[in-house]
Amino acid sequence: MTNVKLQGIRKQYGDGSEIIKGIDLEIQEGEFIVFVGPSGCGKSTLLRMIAGLEEISAGELYLGGQLANEIAPAKRGLAMVFQSYALYPHMSVFENMAFSLKMSGQNKSQIETAVNKAAAILQIEHLLQRKPKDLSGGQRQRVAIGRAIVRQPKLFLFDEPLSNLDASLRVQMRIELSRLHQELATTMIYVTHDQVEAMTLGDRIVVFNAGRIEQVGKPLELYEKPANLFVAGFLGAPKINLLSVVAESVADDEIVFQNLTGEFVQRSKVNFERKLQKGAGYTLGCRPEHVSLVDIDQGMKGVCQFVEHLGDSCIVYVGLKDGTAMSVKTQQLHRLPEKGQEVGLAFDSAHTHLFDEAGLRM
Ligand SMILES: Nc1ncnc2c1ncn2[C@@H]1O[C@H](COP(=O)(O)OP(=O)(O)O)[C@@H](O)[C@H]1O
Ligand SMILES: [Mg+2]
Repeated sequence: MTNVKLQGIRKQYGDGSEIIKGIDLEIQEGEFIVFVGPSGCGKSTLLRMIAGLEEISAGELYLGGQLANEIAPAKRGLAMVFQSYALYPHMSVFENMAFSLKMSGQNKSQIETAVNKAAAILQIEHLLQRKPKDLSGGQRQRVAIGRAIVRQPKLFLFDEPLSNLDASLRVQMRIELSRLHQELATTMIYVTHDQVEAMTLGDRIVVFNAGRIEQVGKPLELYEKPANLFVAGFLGAPKINLLSVVAESVADDEIVFQNLTGEFVQRSKVNFERKLQKGAGYTLGCRPEHVSLVDIDQGMKGVCQFVEHLGDSCIVYVGLKDGTAMSVKTQQLHRLPEKGQEVGLAFDSAHTHLFDEAGLRM
């Protein structure tokens, strides 16, 4: 187990493009932290810098309190698992897992003990004599993780390890990774572009965008209090509903919002952290589960575009007059509107998010 500290970390490639633009972050010992962000935002680059596979252009990296910028990858005490499993095809599962221990000069009984223990944790004991080609995708990924476990690293780095698996296997492996973290209690950094993986796996999530950190926090903190429009839009599926509004009246106990065509949107009793300006424009955000369908004369008017059935609930897609698309998650399956029908929408004021013109939370 080890803690990790990043201080002013930057990465510039030879062509002058800056990919990582100053990262400050402390990861606690034993923490499971998830780096999430859109493709190309620099997650893999940062992970590879922590691993020592990519040079750090500026800033300091500390592993277990020790400055690590110049420490060779093999001496950093970490193990990395990639999206591509990169198993040796001619070796058995046992030999694949034993390889690094053999290279580091451990004896036969030490190696057997370590491999058997890792195989037991991953429930692949019955596969040890097979070759990678005789394994399923999920089993191969488990071997790749096993190869990391046997080295007893102080820090695990995962770069989108489940991306090649089908949906149901991904769910299963997610649960197994959580279990693995509980069992080993080793610090883990896990990179993904998948917000569901981030929400379910992380003790804390770091949301990246274009080489910068947008927000760091526990999954629910980020979901319930996104610091800005980017985080609000990135976490949650279907996406949060966003609407341009004007604060039509601002009193101590109540704020009335209108949309840009002057239609009433919401009467809000929420105490925002910052003071609102009467007449100012904001973006109002409300997640699909916090919007409800009401009588037409009671809410914002819209037209039902279509209804998506999820089994336990439905997503009703509604188009507003000004063209804004909204989604409503409802469990009232017996009271669904027809396509083309006019509906009223009400936003739960206790779960309304408000952002200023710069996109920052009010
Ligand atoms: N060797 C390189 N030279 C120049 N640019 C690179 C190099 N490697 C990666 N990049 C760029 O860095 C950006 C971040 O890449 P990456 O860290 O792989 O993103 P992510 O893992 O978040 O999808 C991308 O725009 C990519 O094109
Ligand atoms: Mg990547």
